[in-house]
Amino acid sequence: MRTARLSLDPIGPHDRDAVVRMQTDPANFDYDQPNSVEDAHDQYERWSAHWLTHGWGYWLVRISATDQLIGIGGGCSTELDDGPAINIFYRFRPMARGKGYASELLTATVEFLTRVGPDQPMVIITDTDNKPSIVLAERNGFTQYKLGEHRGRPSRFFRYTG
Ligand SMILES: CC(C)(COP(=O)(O)OP(=O)(O)OC[C@H]1O[C@@H](n2cnc3c(N)ncnc32)[C@H](O)[C@@H]1OP(=O)(O)O)[C@@H](O)C(=O)NCCC(=O)NCCS
Repeated sequence: MRTARLSLDPIGPHDRDAVVRMQTDPANFDYDQPNSVEDAHDQYERWSAHWLTHGWGYWLVRISATDQLIGIGGGCSTELDDGPAINIFYRFRPMARGKGYASELLTATVEFLTRVGPDQPMVIITDTDNKPSIVLAERNGFTQYKLGEHRGRPSRFFRYTG
């Protein structure tokens, strides 16, 4: 899929290295810890399988003009305490932040999942003090609906309200 500046490619059979590189590089993590290599391989397995099962999932994000890999993001199905939901996620390399790319991805994700995804809440779960992620969510139609623990960390839960 294309946006004004980005190419969004489903995570597929040739993307193991790209996912592992993105998910293990400490530079791409501000508030949480980078994944171990083993965990990143597991993520690759799950995220590529999700596309095959559901027809939607997380994309690799590239700048269309240069084909440079700058991030990962999109939506994957999840089970929360309050029921099934679509977990919206995004992670950009530092050089690709502050340019509106994450907002561009998030707008495209919401539009795509509204068309193609299940009728379930679109949820962003972020560390309580992850300011850039909170600002991104709020600027793009997400509203905080609870505070809670997620994977052992105090977190804010946002839901898409348009
Ligand atoms: C969270 C994260 C994706 C936010 O990225 P981001 O680049 O700040 O978000 P945006 O794409 O919305 O960019 C917004 C900034 O770009 C600026 N910008 C520049 N050109 C722009 C354009 N053409 N369009 C829109 N905004 C533009 C905006 O003014 C804004 O700057 P400001 O925050 O100083 O006001 C990024 O910090 C990240 O990858 N963090 C690590 C991973 C992480 O924590 N993920 C969350 C897990 S839930």
